Amino acid sequence: MSRAGNDEIMDVDSLRRLFRAFRDGNEVAFRKVAESVIADQLASNHHQLAKELRAALGDISKSPGHRTAEPLTALTRERRNGEQLLTIYHEPASTEHLCLEDSTRQRIDRFINERRNTRKLASHGYAPKSKLLFWGPPGCGKTLTAHFLANQFGLKVGVVRLNALISSFLGDTAAHLQQVFDAAQSTPMVLLFDEIDSVAKTRDDSRDVGELKRVVNSFLQAMDTFSARDSFLIGASNHQYLLDPAIWRRFDDVILFPTPSPKLRRDYIRHQLNGVTLKGSLETLVKKTAGLSFAQMEQLLVEAIKSMILDDRGELTTQQIFAELRYMQDMMAAVDRERTVKDE
Ligand SMILES: Nc1ncnc2c1ncn2[C@@H]1O[C@H](COP(=O)(O)OP(=O)(O)O)[C@@H](O)[C@H]1O
Ligand SMILES: [Mg+2]
Repeated sequence: MSRAGNDEIMDVDSLRRLFRAFRDGNEVAFRKVAESVIADQLASNHHQLAKELRAALGDISKSPGHRTAEPLTALTRERRNGEQLLTIYHEPASTEHLCLEDSTRQRIDRFINERRNTRKLASHGYAPKSKLLFWGPPGCGKTLTAHFLANQFGLKVGVVRLNALISSFLGDTAAHLQQVFDAAQSTPMVLLFDEIDSVAKTRDDSRDVGELKRVVNSFLQAMDTFSARDSFLIGASNHQYLLDPAIWRRFDDVILFPTPSPKLRRDYIRHQLNGVTLKGSLETLVKKTAGLSFAQMEQLLVEAIKSMILDDRGELTTQQIFAELRYMQDMMAAVDRERTVKDE
């Protein structure tokens, strides 16, 4: 608002309140200050300016009680195009059937235990963990577990939209990062940087290594200053090697989500069958699904069960599942072949 001839658009106190409202993600307070600034301009007969300010703010006074955007999302927008930096999941996905390896489960339980005993830890001068890094192959429960943890603490999940966050404009990325960290500071949530390696991957083959370095540095700075009482941060990655070791160290715990073991595959298949009668050996099925992720097993079983329904068959045979599996494996092999051809 640097208009010549209007040096008293806003007093320092209003400015302070405006900043505070922004920091707290309080849209109501933000609008209140903005409205009073507009009212002052009207009172001073600056009708044109008042009109411009009103247009810039967006008029919601015509629809009382109607909130177009929630306070949080109104304040976490990308600087150039106003794109959202966060997608908020108010009701995290159902996580009743989360299957975890014992080693993973133990780390997750430990995290929950620390967060539930914040006071006890604090009385001895310790803080609970607040930054977790999940890594492991795709489809093995990283995102699902982030939702599971959100459910445990009654929190929403704020997924950082990395494409919007990373700007080609110098300085914007750091500002965006600060915005999402501030949002998590003022609004309790699980701040999820999902598939963070995708950033590294897309930048890897581009010429601008400098930009990636800047992103990493901004991220490190933002991570170091992050300390929210109720929120916590989860980073999820498919490829740990793509992550900068300096980032790796910043997390309070690094938790592996491995490809499911035979025991977990058995549990998961049983659960997915969900009352459908299986004809054939469950053990052979468990053996043959070695190397598949949960997401792939889910896809496999859902396809086989749907075929059974469409064909009016009363039961599912392992032979039918194997036929689906062969198709799936052929497809994966074809994708791999295409990829190697491309890389050569
Ligand atoms: N550990 C798991 N237990 C139960 N279901 C799972 C698990 N991992 C993955 N799934 C199934 O696969 C889907 C995708 O998993 P997701 O958590 O998004 O994988 P990731 O984030 O590790 O790539 C989930 O929505 C769920 O249906
Ligand atoms: Mg995921």
